[in-house]
Amino acid sequence: MDPEYVFLPKSRLAVLVSGRGSNLQAIMSACASGQIPATDVVAVISNRPQAPALALAAAAGIPSPCVDHRRFADRSSFDAALRAQIDDFAPDHIALAGFMRQLTPAFAQHYAGRMVNIHPSLLPAFPGLHTHAQALGEGVKLHGATVHFVTADLDAGPIIVQGAVPVLAQDDVASLAARVLAVEHRIYPQALAWLVSGRLRIEQGKVTIDGEKASGISPCVWPGTEDL
Ligand code: GAR
Repeated sequence: MDPEYVFLPKSRLAVLVSGRGSNLQAIMSACASGQIPATDVVAVISNRPQAPALALAAAAGIPSPCVDHRRFADRSSFDAALRAQIDDFAPDHIALAGFMRQLTPAFAQHYAGRMVNIHPSLLPAFPGLHTHAQALGEGVKLHGATVHFVTADLDAGPIIVQGAVPVLAQDDVASLAARVLAVEHRIYPQALAWLVSGRLRIEQGKVTIDGEKASGISPCVWPGTEDL
C-alpha cells in the first residue's frame, strides 16, 4: 500500500479534573501543537459539576461528563461509576489534572502504568493537601511539582519528572502557588509526551525514560534550565 495512505491510530487520552483546569489547558494546547504527539483528548471527566475545567473542555468540543461523587454512598461505588465512565471512552492513558478525590486501590490497579497525576510539591515531601502552606511552614528553600504514576498509595507512585522553583522570603501561598503552577504547565505536557510515546519504563518502583542517557534529556526542571 502507498505509505501516504497508512494512518496510525492516534493515542486516546482522558483527563480527570475537579476545578480550574489550567493543567488541562496546557495538555490540550500541547496535544494541538504536537508537543504531545499524535494524541487526542477524548474526554474530560469531573467529579464536580461546577468545575470550570468542564467549560474549557466543552468549548474545545471535547466530551465532558460529570460523575458527581456526592451521588454515591461510598468511595468504591463512586470509583466503579467513574471507571465505567472512563472506559466508555476507551482511553489509552489517563491524566489526573487537579482531580481532588482519593482513589481506591482497585481503581488504581485497573489503570496501573496508564494513569498519571500531577502534584504541587517535590514528592515525597508534602503529599496530600495545602502543599504550598506546608512548604512555607517548613521553611524549605526549594519547592515545586511532580508528575508520577498513580498507585494505591496517595501521591506515592513512581516519579516521572519534577520541576523545582525557589521559595522567596516575600512569598505567600498565592505567589508560591503561581510560581509552581508555571512549572506544572511545563512538566505535565513533557511527561505525557514521554508516556504516549511509550518511552517510560518502571523498574523496581523507579521510572526511566528511553534514550535518557543517550540524548541528555533530563526529567527535572529548575530555575534557569532550558526547556526540556
Ligand atoms: C494544580 O496545582 C495541581 O497540581 C493540583 O491542583 C491544581 C489544579 O489546578 N493537584 C493536586 O493538588 C492533586 N493532589 P488546575 O485545575 O488549574 O490544573
